[in-house]
Amino acid sequence: MATEQLCIVEKLKISNAIITTCSEKNRFFYAIYFTISTMNIQRPTQQVYSNYTTQDFAVWKILFDRQMAILKPSASSEYLKALDIVNFANDVIPDFNVVNQLLQSLTGWKLVVVPNLCPEREFFEHLSQKKFTTTCWLRSMQQLDYIEEPDMFHDVFAHVPLLSNRDYVNFLKGLSDIALKFIDHPKIIKLLSRLYWFTIEYGLIQEGTMLKIYGAGIISSNGETLHCLSPQATYKPFDVATILSTSYRTDILQEKYFVIHSFEQLYHSLPDIREQLEVRAQLCIQ
Ligand SMILES: [Fe+2]
Repeated sequence: MATEQLCIVEKLKISNAIITTCSEKNRFFYAIYFTISTMNIQRPTQQVYSNYTTQDFAVWKILFDRQMAILKPSASSEYLKALDIVNFANDVIPDFNVVNQLLQSLTGWKLVVVPNLCPEREFFEHLSQKKFTTTCWLRSMQQLDYIEEPDMFHDVFAHVPLLSNRDYVNFLKGLSDIALKFIDHPKIIKLLSRLYWFTIEYGLIQEGTMLKIYGAGIISSNGETLHCLSPQATYKPFDVATILSTSYRTDILQEKYFVIHSFEQLYHSLPDIREQLEVRAQLCIQ
């Protein structure tokens, strides 16, 4: 799986994830690579719309058109509807001021620009305050198929439309409120990240007899979009206890996906999530 698909909460984990799944020798080089890449790349901390180049617009259009060609039949109706609601188009890089005005009026959410890395506490604090952290830069033409860190095509194209959906954002905020409760408990945050991963990033939804995509990690990835609905993928119904016990890898196409029947179902699962994490936190303490 390309790291373009990782959400901000995973950004700090990617180097560790790859480092821990490769050989001793490669771990060393990956560690150096991520250290150097993080140190050297200066990403913008605010969106200055006039700074977007002709190439940026071309990249947005290529990625947008390529994804829409396969998302129209496979993305959830809620995502496709949300894409229209936020007025995203192939020839316009979204202007965050315009997007914020719209989201504020619809759900009270807004976008906050981060250069790339966002520590977990800050990430969940922002979400809890209805602020979605996002990058505002785009990959180069040479990085269309692979990029080491999430850019705004992932953060904005894949994540932002559903911020207009009330049940979806209520779940996102509720999950973040729970995360803050356990923010000083790394083992519990690790478990909670599985819920984020198998829903917000890699979730599928049942629509009639069809499985459809709503997870942002899939939405922004050509390969994952094709893979997740192929015979190679396996599916399980959304279940909090099962997800809490299911680890994931960030460096491969996913092997299994969890299927919800509505965003309302996610929202109504919050008390169960809180309860199960409280029990596990108690067990960790004992
Ligand atoms: Fe993401």
